[in-house]
Amino acid sequence: MHPLRQILAFLLFAAALAGCSEQRVEPPGAPRGGDFVLRSAGGPVDTRALRGKVLLIYFGYTHCPDVCPASLAAGAQALNTLSPEERGKVRLIMVSVDPERDTPERLKEYTAYFHPEMLGVTGSAEEIAAVAKAFGAGYIRQPARPDGSYAVDHTTRTYAVAPDGKLAVALELNAPAEKYLETVRGLLR
Ligand code: NI
Repeated sequence: MHPLRQILAFLLFAAALAGCSEQRVEPPGAPRGGDFVLRSAGGPVDTRALRGKVLLIYFGYTHCPDVCPASLAAGAQALNTLSPEERGKVRLIMVSVDPERDTPERLKEYTAYFHPEMLGVTGSAEEIAAVAKAFGAGYIRQPARPDGSYAVDHTTRTYAVAPDGKLAVALELNAPAEKYLETVRGLLR
């Protein structure tokens, strides 16, 4: 390869990496989704009991400084745009990737800030890891800061599960509320 081309190829590669920092945490292989049972403040959330509904599943954590709030706000906005009948057939679920700090109660408080019908669920570290892997979502806990706090880098997609329980599509970060709406209505049809 010509040296200049080599440099150009490297630059393009580097740019691609820089542009998708949220994706480097994701495991390889095609995500297949799948049922799970995790805990919310209101009791267990079993996706098998949610057949017939569209699930919007987001992996995040309540201490997240910026990405989670933006994504959850877009999802909540989409919910508010649906008719009450449609909204009854949608569940917005935040799965915590920080089970150590995110108790079901803390998650409830956090999700209620975005939408009263949003569910926040957590489980053991092993349970969360298994669910994330099934959806092709990833997360990496960063080293603790001097004050003991820490960040968790995580997938920023929202996974839409069809009424039949199958993973249908992953909405990218910064997808507008209209895109959520279009996806939900498409899956409810
Ligand atoms: Ni986040």
